[in-house]
Amino acid sequence: TNQNIIFYLLAYLIGSIPFGLILAKTFAGVDIKSQGSKSIGATNVLRVVKEKDPKLAKKLGIATVILDALKGTILLIIGLYLNLSYETLWAMAVLSVLGHCYSIYLGLEGGKGVATGLGVYIVLIPYATLIGAIVWIVCAKVLKISSLSSLLGLIAAVISATFIYDGLNVGSNVPMYLIAFIILYKHIPNIIRIVKGEEKKVI
Ligand code: G3P
Repeated sequence: TNQNIIFYLLAYLIGSIPFGLILAKTFAGVDIKSQGSKSIGATNVLRVVKEKDPKLAKKLGIATVILDALKGTILLIIGLYLNLSYETLWAMAVLSVLGHCYSIYLGLEGGKGVATGLGVYIVLIPYATLIGAIVWIVCAKVLKISSLSSLLGLIAAVISATFIYDGLNVGSNVPMYLIAFIILYKHIPNIIRIVKGEEKKVI
């Protein structure tokens, strides 16, 4: 329906907003797209701003995760209230993550989808996302490698979801896997660095 098309557009356009890039430029005067991993996510905000001001870096990093997650969460909650079908909600979820990873405002460049993925998964597969988030946080504390921790959390969430949810309310796990695939795909450079032992620690 026409209403759905508006929601799909909104999901992609809102998902595209590069909060990390905006916050780092506005409050620290740095361009994270040309430094560090060149990603626009919280990790790179933390990494690049830390060199100037560690305290500010932490604040901006946390703000970036929250805002990037909310890009996915808020629209889905509105959709739930409007009784949109789960098919529509999952399609919006995929588009939010695609927007973050391939932003229309950045010539289809962007981030790696972890925070926005978390933001949509928490609405659609909440218990599995909680498990994934715990794995993510524990790994980050122990390993101190952001990308690897994100990927382990993602895998934990997806595996738990396959056990917890039956058909994920859409009769298919495909949209959930698609989101996970986009995030994994965007992490290929990180995975190569991890294997080579060259991935930088953040903290
Ligand atoms: O959230 C993104 C993280 O998994 C990796 O980011 O900047 O280290 O490539 P980065």
